Amino acid sequence: MGHHKHLQIGLECIRRNQDLRRTTTHQQRTPTQKSSRKHHPITKPAEMAPRHHRDVPDNKLNSWFPNTQSPVIISAPMLGAANGALAAAVSKAGGLGFIPGGLDFAPGSAQLAALADELTTARRLFGLADRTLTPLPVGVGFILSHASLVHFEETAIPLLQDHSPQAVWLFAPHPEHVVSGLVGRIVAALKNSGFIVVFQVGNVASARRAALDGADIIVAQGADAGGHQFAGGAGIVSLVPEVVSMLEREFAGRGIVVAAAGGIVDGRGVAAALALGAEAVVMGTRFLIAPEASTAEFQRKLVIETEDGGPSTSKSSVHDDLHGVRANWPSPYDGRAIIGEPWRDHLKGVPLEENIKKNQEAKAAGDVTRLVTWAGTGVGLVKDAIPAGDTVREVREAAQQRIRHLQTLF
Ligand SMILES: Cc1cc2nc3c(=O)[nH]c(=O)nc-3n(C[C@H](O)[C@H](O)[C@H](O)COP(=O)(O)O)c2cc1C
Repeated sequence: MGHHKHLQIGLECIRRNQDLRRTTTHQQRTPTQKSSRKHHPITKPAEMAPRHHRDVPDNKLNSWFPNTQSPVIISAPMLGAANGALAAAVSKAGGLGFIPGGLDFAPGSAQLAALADELTTARRLFGLADRTLTPLPVGVGFILSHASLVHFEETAIPLLQDHSPQAVWLFAPHPEHVVSGLVGRIVAALKNSGFIVVFQVGNVASARRAALDGADIIVAQGADAGGHQFAGGAGIVSLVPEVVSMLEREFAGRGIVVAAAGGIVDGRGVAAALALGAEAVVMGTRFLIAPEASTAEFQRKLVIETEDGGPSTSKSSVHDDLHGVRANWPSPYDGRAIIGEPWRDHLKGVPLEENIKKNQEAKAAGDVTRLVTWAGTGVGLVKDAIPAGDTVREVREAAQQRIRHLQTLF
């Protein structure tokens, strides 16, 4: 699909959404609708608003998530930073907010208990009662790298069924769990329970695997992303089009939605991602300084002060070694963080053991300067600590303006 065509679709999505907003009230589904939720029964935009341009494909995201507005801005499920309040604020503003659920699925997991609390908070903020009867317009994100994944069906799925978020995001499976078929079984179980399954991937092969396993939405995460990602990563400029082309070629008719992640922090990035073929964007780093986020104070300050994201962040598995989380991140993955003292010591040749000891001693003494701050290369543009809903509206409108401006150029 040509560049110009994508811009036209971007504009058409915006127009169609404006029609949609005029003709619908947000998100009050009836119990009857929920009972057949398994088949994604939410009223389709096409049934609610006239279609002006018949050559434009259905916008599946607006159909699955009726409170979203195009271009759809998704907030990433960032462990330690995102939460129920952030996700609710993003979804209320027409984005799609994700709550992090962590990676420990063992019975009695503290992370799952915390997730239940955050889902309850989000439900309260939406003013929704009866849990399973009224779907909650946020998603939940899990990391699949841990050995406790074998308990997922017995621990995570009942929790999800109880709280009824609209989507479940999966990321970073251990290769053994992909090969054994466990990941495929988890995707099937989630879909059987009616959840839209989002899979974040970092290369074409993992996108193909996610499509084979049944993903509805594939997040193509580029190497500019903050936090964990594929070690052999490419930027979204090449990754997104190659993933889109592969899906069009090998999974024609499935209509898998592609979202772009990694380095997108404003309307310019969103417009670029749409031009590359993505239908939505994911932002993580931009939301780190939202007042609703759980980000620690020193991290907020660091994110705001950091300029020039390329040289001031680094992408490496050494961060995991230095900060004691290597066991959670098998070899396909590494992470991008703001360069701090531990990384500078590492470059100076300080041995790992000594470096770890310095980190632990600093932490014990209440010194935060050696703690890690995961962030992407877009960090240099993240300055405004405004409410998450305002960010969603501002970025969405800036992207719309950018696309309209581009159309005047030809
Ligand atoms: C602080 C932080 C924590 C993150 N935690 C998770 C996580 O728990 N699960 C996950 O799938 N991705 C996680 N990510 C990655 C995001 O899903 C997303 O790919 C990334 O934020 C997009 O790039 P950006 O930060 O440049 O917007 C995290 C990112 C950050 C910055």
